[in-house]
Amino acid sequence: MTLQTRPQLINLHPAPADMARLVREGLGRHPRQLPAWLLYDAEGSRLFEAIGQQPEYSLTRVETALLDQRAGELAAALGPGVLVEFGAGNLRKVGPLLEALRPAAYVPLDISARHLEQSCADLQTRHPQVPMLAICCDYSQLADLPAHPLLQGQRRHGFYPGSSIGNFSPPEARALLEQFARLLGPGSRLLIGIDHPKPAERLEAAYNDAAGVSAAFARNLLVRLNRDLAGNLDPTAFAYVARWEASHSRVAMALVSSCAQTVSVAGQHWRFAAGDELIAEYSLKYSTEAFLQLAQPAGWRLGQRWSDPAGELSLLLLERADS
Ligand code: AVJ
Repeated sequence: MTLQTRPQLINLHPAPADMARLVREGLGRHPRQLPAWLLYDAEGSRLFEAIGQQPEYSLTRVETALLDQRAGELAAALGPGVLVEFGAGNLRKVGPLLEALRPAAYVPLDISARHLEQSCADLQTRHPQVPMLAICCDYSQLADLPAHPLLQGQRRHGFYPGSSIGNFSPPEARALLEQFARLLGPGSRLLIGIDHPKPAERLEAAYNDAAGVSAAFARNLLVRLNRDLAGNLDPTAFAYVARWEASHSRVAMALVSSCAQTVSVAGQHWRFAAGDELIAEYSLKYSTEAFLQLAQPAGWRLGQRWSDPAGELSLLLLERADS
């Protein structure tokens, strides 16, 4: 067995021109809304980790505990192959699963290059027996994995924890699940985390914590636009709100213009009246049944399901319907 000391890294981050186009599209919509991955520059990734430590935001803690406790069962349900993690973040959830599964390779995908490189190097040190290939990309746009020796002739299984699928609208989520089915190929399985609906007060507190980390995370989007797309947005001229929209089963996280203002970004001017919103992200909450309504037409069927004792969230093992 070869011990690995350094993970390999492939950088497919969207080019500045693509970012500018997406931002112009998003600011032209009603309501204005930008792709959620723009929240994750290096500072955004750091702030998201801090959100996971706030008392009001239990998702990360509860899911990490479940992954820890059930690592053996989860590994047995996945079976041998390469493990591909979508939107891997700080890579702190996957450790017990890697130990139990010992995959042929671990392939984390994330939008934040520096963050990914650093976290994957740390993870490689802790798991030298697992070859790792880190890919910086917008996984929602990745049609296939790059050709690489580590991926040849192996089954591919997906790992998509954290309820990140909640950032996508239902049609987008369905398209994403179809794309995962294609990218992972025949015989693949997908272990996905979904967060269930909860009382409005709890959700609104989770997405607007008392320490103000959620608000800082959303406002950092404006800082990022200023830096990367020559913007002149004033983060203090936007209030932050998180509200539960029951009819869509989602939390809307919005930056609300506190005055009439014209801003410039990505080479254009945009007018905000006082009270006009820019949606930083949505976080959709699914019952297992509602989620399967999306996953089944996308080519997946439910294998097994694990939930925490309070039923806050679930990990679903999906199997490609054609295998
Ligand atoms: C990474 C999309 C799962 O929706 O709970 C948390 C993002 N934003 N607090 C979520 C988030 C603000 C998070 N996901």
